[in-house]
Amino acid sequence: MSNIKFYYGDEVPLEMHKVRVVQKLNLIPVEQRQAEIAKAGNNTFLLQNRDVFLDMLTDSGVNAMSDKQTAAMMEADDSYAGSATFTKLEKKVRELFGTQFYLPAHQGRACENILSHAFVSEGSVVPMNYHFTTTKSHIVANGGCVEELVIDEGLKVNSDNPFKGNMDLNKLENLIQSLGAEKIPYVRMEAGTNLIGGQPISLQNIKDTHNLCKKYDIMMIFDASLLQDNLYFIKTREEACKNMSIRKITKEIAKCTDIIYFSARKLGSARGGGICTNNPEYYNKMRELVPLFEGFLTYGGMSVREMEAMTVGLEETMDMDMISQGPEFIAYMTQELIKRGVPVITPPGGLGCHINAMEFVKHIPQEQYPAGALASAIYIAGGIRGMERGTLSEERNPDGSERLSNMELVRLAMPRRVFTLSQVKYAVDRISWLYENRKLIEGLIFEEEPKVLRFFLGKLRPVSSWQDNLVMKFKEDFGDSL
Ligand code: F0G
Repeated sequence: MSNIKFYYGDEVPLEMHKVRVVQKLNLIPVEQRQAEIAKAGNNTFLLQNRDVFLDMLTDSGVNAMSDKQTAAMMEADDSYAGSATFTKLEKKVRELFGTQFYLPAHQGRACENILSHAFVSEGSVVPMNYHFTTTKSHIVANGGCVEELVIDEGLKVNSDNPFKGNMDLNKLENLIQSLGAEKIPYVRMEAGTNLIGGQPISLQNIKDTHNLCKKYDIMMIFDASLLQDNLYFIKTREEACKNMSIRKITKEIAKCTDIIYFSARKLGSARGGGICTNNPEYYNKMRELVPLFEGFLTYGGMSVREMEAMTVGLEETMDMDMISQGPEFIAYMTQELIKRGVPVITPPGGLGCHINAMEFVKHIPQEQYPAGALASAIYIAGGIRGMERGTLSEERNPDGSERLSNMELVRLAMPRRVFTLSQVKYAVDRISWLYENRKLIEGLIFEEEPKVLRFFLGKLRPVSSWQDNLVMKFKEDFGDSL
């Protein structure tokens, strides 16, 4: 955050905002937590929020909005076509990214639907640093497949590489040469690489990837959903960018891309999304799909109030005081967990703190979803809702066998400006307790398994009565504490 030192040397992330609206929380007793997670099929997506104490499922659409964002919502121009609110948003996007065209869409995956419809066809291969769940599903649904070319370091749980999300340029060039450029409709780069722990990419890597794409005349699409954290990391970790403004870094990134898309549930702390480009041909190809899937071209499925909040939120993304809170809270939580021996992804990334379930519960085979089991145990231990990001989040191979994930993570997202430091300390306490009692945790098996994006709606049960044992141990150690 700003340059403020503590006299006694404490390394505490200091908030550069104050809280003016609060929401009461509820922490139900441990037996009830066990009953609720059972009802939810051990799937944290299926819990009711009233039964959750700290909702660390995601940062999507749940970041705290600023006073200026909520104020802007009051003056939205409600009209189906030609809304002044849209014009304002379009102007802001143009200003920040320097792109002439902006197509609105109601969220990130809606952009992916449009992009995949427009550019992916049977047999297409889309190289990317790493996939995101919805991205891959849309590409596959349109007959394509994904090739992940993140640097090897990206898949190492612990590393001191500041940009673990970077594209491996050798792998990319080899793939292009072996497949032939005509099979590759575009290369996708994801900022703040979600599934490997919110790990950033460097500006240099974006530039190099762009140059390689240019050499083979391949389009480059940039997923800017997690750009906010990535901008913070470029500014603080990339030597050549230390003296660049966030605005300038954003422009430099945009210059290297043919199309930028984003979920404004993340970028801009509102609820919406959009696709930006300077290329009229790409724009025209995608434009007709917006009224078909999303809504008219001046709202694209978004409410005008959200568009107003998004315009302000995008501008606030240019302010280091606004964007540093997330990464600095995440770094704090990660360091505190490390002190207690809990295996976590390092270096700390954006989005949230990522626990390495492969190590935490190494006795659970991947076919029994270690990260899913750990997410369930974390809810029982503390009413904390995290998200499985491992084998459960993958889809099965065509022959029905499990596609074992490279990593088994439980993501504890840090919605921006939502939690206080004492709440983070509570989470660290309960997770550390769980780590000491990790042997009690066992696996899960499916009871109901959807074919597509099974992690959203699938239901599982524990392989044994391990959750009873965990609750018993909790009561032994915590007595009548919630
Ligand atoms: N791309 C990235 C990198 C994302 O993290 C997400 C969403 C999307 C695309 C899709 O955007 O949700 O607005 O449709 N990530 C959320 C998460 C769901 O919890 O990490 P969306």
